[in-house]
Amino acid sequence: MIQRLRGFRDMYPEYMRARRIVFNKICDVARSFGFHEIDAPSLELLDLFRVKSGEEIVKQTFSFVDKGGREVTLIPELTPTVSRMIAARKDLVKPVKWFSFPKMWRYEEPQSGRLREFYQFNADIFGISNIYADAEIIALAMEILDTLGLQDKYVMRVSDRVLMEELLRKLRVENIEGAFRIIDKRDKIPEEVFREEMLKYLSSEAVEYLSEILEMKGDIDTVLDKLPESERTATLLELKDLLSEYGKSVMLDLSIVRGLAYYTGIVFEAHDARGEFRAILGGGRYDGVVELFGAQHTPAVGFGLGDVVLELIMRREGVWPEEKIDVDYFVAIVPGFRKEAIKIATKLRRKGYRVDIELQDRSLSKQMKYANKINAKHVIIIGEEIKRGAVVVKNMGSGEQREVKLEEIL
Ligand code: HAM
Repeated sequence: MIQRLRGFRDMYPEYMRARRIVFNKICDVARSFGFHEIDAPSLELLDLFRVKSGEEIVKQTFSFVDKGGREVTLIPELTPTVSRMIAARKDLVKPVKWFSFPKMWRYEEPQSGRLREFYQFNADIFGISNIYADAEIIALAMEILDTLGLQDKYVMRVSDRVLMEELLRKLRVENIEGAFRIIDKRDKIPEEVFREEMLKYLSSEAVEYLSEILEMKGDIDTVLDKLPESERTATLLELKDLLSEYGKSVMLDLSIVRGLAYYTGIVFEAHDARGEFRAILGGGRYDGVVELFGAQHTPAVGFGLGDVVLELIMRREGVWPEEKIDVDYFVAIVPGFRKEAIKIATKLRRKGYRVDIELQDRSLSKQMKYANKINAKHVIIIGEEIKRGAVVVKNMGSGEQREVKLEEIL
């Protein structure tokens, strides 16, 4: 037998039911915040990500040369595509608030929380440069997790690339991007390796100081108090105030810089409060991307939430929906009454019920066993009674069975 590829999933009906409930809740929260749904291609020119996302992500693409000789790739993220869509439409009324839930692909080593094919919910606000949009997007991300039953089970860690850049410049770092890359890897490499790498950019005292800064995690004002006065202090305090009006509180954690090259301001990640899993979601402000597509300067802020870590943490917390398929009715048929049964099933289906019908000519007892296995809530038996306008209905929960007038169930 040919096996499924590593890092990919087969999704069966029980699982799909649970997943659909979760995805619907996420999209409903986005709609409640005034976001509108979009969709986009799964295949793009590889150059789109070379220019917009940075080498790190290009290394992880599922890319190939197509029959026309073009270097194309399955999308590893959506941000460049959405930015292109924004740039292509001059008529959009700003701010633009869009969400989507595409599948994406990254050639990473499959491990807990990381697969090669996954879904990623995206929400972005375009056209607003002030901190109100950052607050709105962070509040949306948190409201989604809270709605899914994860309140207090995660921590929203916020940082600011502008503040970090300021601090690094004070430490006389010239290659800011290089330093960010190493800081981003800090959690995944041993402390000595981190220090060694940073010594390429900093004196040893400066590395000490930087390590201290990266450890200062806590309430926004508490951490700011420990840092030198910055032009960003007021902005970060305002973010804290705005978020508290949304009923949300976040942690300032300057070790969050995010791997993607395009972020220009506030960045954030939600992490499991117990520290068991990788980031649940991540995002930030990326004010320079839309204009790379020839449009005028368009500030942007957004995030991506993958389905893999989300599922792990929801399962651990016991809030992943039950994986069980069922139907409202199973229409069982006594030999000779198929035509009547089809008519009744059709009417019930048009009323919005989920209705299965006997597709073989099994004995009634076999049909009842089947109805039980598919978790039918009720079985309607179509037989002789139909001649006087009635059917037998069995409530599979209570086991109660009675004759019911057809009008009553239709
Ligand atoms: P990202 O941090 O690369 O950001 O991915 C965001 C989220 O996608 C992660 O926190 C994780 O939930 C999920 N994810 C990423 N890679 C994998 C994987 N291999 N397997 C399972 N889940 C994964 C971005 O992609 C940005 N484009 C997000 C964004 C939108 N920024 C602004 N707007």
